[in-house]
Amino acid sequence: MNNKATIELQHKTEKWLSATPKQIENLLNSNAEELRDVLRFHEGNYYIKNSPLISDAEYDRLYKYLEKYEAENPDKITFDSPTQRVGGGLNSEFPKVSHLVPMLSLQNSYNEQDLKDWDHRIKETLNQTEIEYCIEPKFDGASISLIYENDRLIRGSTRGDGETGDDITNNIRRIKSIPLSGKFSQYGIEQIELRGEVLMNKINFENFNKQQSEAGLALLANPRNASAGTLRMKDPEEVSKRKLEAFVYHASYINLFSSVKEASELKTHSGILQMLNDLGFKSPVHESKVLRGIENVIKHISNFEIQRDDLPYEIDGMVIKVNKIDEQEILGMTSHHPRWAIAYKFKARQATSKLLSVSYQVGRTGAVTPVAKIEPVQVGGVTVSSISIHNEDYIREKDLRIGDSILIERSGDVIPQIVKSNPEVRTGAEKPIIYLTNCPACGDKLIKPEGEAVWRCVNISCPAQVVEKIIHFVSKDAMDIKNFGEANVRKFFELGLLKDIPGIYKLDFTSISSLEGIGEKTINNLKSAIEVSKKQPLHRLIYALGIRYVGETTAKTLARSVTGLKNLAEKSQEELMLVDDVGIKIAESIYTFFQNRDNIELIKELEQLGVETEYKVQEVKNRNLSGKTFLFTGTLNMKRSDAEEMVGNLGGTILNSVSSKLNYLVVGESAGSKLEKAKKIPSVNIITEDEFLKLISFNN
Ligand code: IVH
Repeated sequence: MNNKATIELQHKTEKWLSATPKQIENLLNSNAEELRDVLRFHEGNYYIKNSPLISDAEYDRLYKYLEKYEAENPDKITFDSPTQRVGGGLNSEFPKVSHLVPMLSLQNSYNEQDLKDWDHRIKETLNQTEIEYCIEPKFDGASISLIYENDRLIRGSTRGDGETGDDITNNIRRIKSIPLSGKFSQYGIEQIELRGEVLMNKINFENFNKQQSEAGLALLANPRNASAGTLRMKDPEEVSKRKLEAFVYHASYINLFSSVKEASELKTHSGILQMLNDLGFKSPVHESKVLRGIENVIKHISNFEIQRDDLPYEIDGMVIKVNKIDEQEILGMTSHHPRWAIAYKFKARQATSKLLSVSYQVGRTGAVTPVAKIEPVQVGGVTVSSISIHNEDYIREKDLRIGDSILIERSGDVIPQIVKSNPEVRTGAEKPIIYLTNCPACGDKLIKPEGEAVWRCVNISCPAQVVEKIIHFVSKDAMDIKNFGEANVRKFFELGLLKDIPGIYKLDFTSISSLEGIGEKTINNLKSAIEVSKKQPLHRLIYALGIRYVGETTAKTLARSVTGLKNLAEKSQEELMLVDDVGIKIAESIYTFFQNRDNIELIKELEQLGVETEYKVQEVKNRNLSGKTFLFTGTLNMKRSDAEEMVGNLGGTILNSVSSKLNYLVVGESAGSKLEKAKKIPSVNIITEDEFLKLISFNN
């Protein structure tokens, strides 16, 4: 939907929402179809874009006007009216279901003293001197309830108001880490209600937003919103694509077969976690710890907080639970929370700042992204002074103005986001953000393609785009030309020593060596890195070309399905669509890319300069990691379990902690305490994920 249509529908919404009952009656008699349009528009924002512009209550109010009018005038009902959708309107989209046991909240604690006070109360009630606790992460996602009966998953639902939630079984069934059946009967269990948390891990979240941004679509604010939004999507296929995962951490109700006695596994919380794990669930059995005494709990929590960023998913604290179930039963619960559990919340990663000004960046696809300069502020340990505000729709939806007080959030290593502006503290001096009409780099008029949220500069010789394309080409995930970082590309480009991508392979090193700060060693390193890059596998070259919608994964599948770059360039859209995971959008984009004569010239030139453009099958040699030990830390691009499996397949061993027995520590993004420890042990080789991949392909 284009911008004008969106604004028009938003105006119409305001008109309907502010109308008096008499006016509503007149409006409905003269133009009920307008209200249907308004409702469809908001359904789209809610279900498809996951970014509602009005509240549920406002939607309901408008929906009821239409429902009432149609009930009184049945001859006026249209077949595509929002009231005729199976299952009804916004709130009744998913059937409501009652939880077997209410889904309670947790009491919160923020410091040692809160925990000590809680421990004191528990010791008093149980009349004991020391309690056994189980401590586990507090997952920051969307809570769910699952019911298994006779070993089969029969229902999955959202928390809702705690008593009743939405039946989202079809969506839940798309989450691969939730088993559709589990042998609970082995433990004498006939029916069990489980509680857990659905998450989108940090890598999937970032990849998802990257794709959305490339496509000019709305971004998700944080992994938590991403999981909650996805769970309520109408199309289960879409849920599958978003790769959610779920941790299951509590059994709220257990009904045993009448003939059996309670299994010993069910007597402690840690035993239940172990049982769930053994039945194929993702339970926090490895992430949890059983400890006696609150002092030990406090120590463990502060160690865990340091490692928070090492986890592949978001947590916002820890949950401490009395481990013995009979003790939990004595303690019982209030109407709000169980007395046997408490959440310890980590320091907030939100801060308030002020929006000072807006500048614009031109990306390699010509997308012009507004960036807000803000008053520098500390959020979760880093200083944030600028923040992307994505596009014009985002600015309008968040109602951002220059001078506004804004709330910032940084979740884990995820890029900071503006949560909201604070219009209630405006002074009147705030200024609207006037969007650019011309490219800040080349001055060409900006274009906003139909159905997209992003303004683009379509001048392919725009210097800003050319620089960004070169930066992408040399980057780590693309041709990986070491020592040729962003700063060097910009410097060489500004000095006229580098004009385009082929220019990388034609650099005049005599001129470069005369530049300040560039010594002989740097030159030699650069020369050899450029040489090495000529032999990069085809999928890296395809990715490096920066074809829209072609990410690393698609580049890999494409590379495997062609004989070389020329062959790829010759494929029709229909042929491209035969490749796995290539849909019409990607096929169209690849086809259009190679229809452009400049791009064909680029390929020819690269070939003449000695860049390998054919597909080569990797040779497989012997396994020889035997005797070598590995440990992975931080966020990796590949799945940690895949990496560990590779090591095992090649005869190596995985260790659990850093010690002098460790040969290689493979560090991903935001590695924490393990990296610090390894730095102190000289015999440990600290390597990046890329170096690890090189090592194993060498050893393969
Ligand atoms: S136990 C009856 N354990 O935090 C107790 N909750 O703020 C059930 N949460 O509603 C909850 N991680 O959605 C429990 N390891 C964990 C958790 C956890 C996240 C969520 C849960 C709860 C919310 C309370």
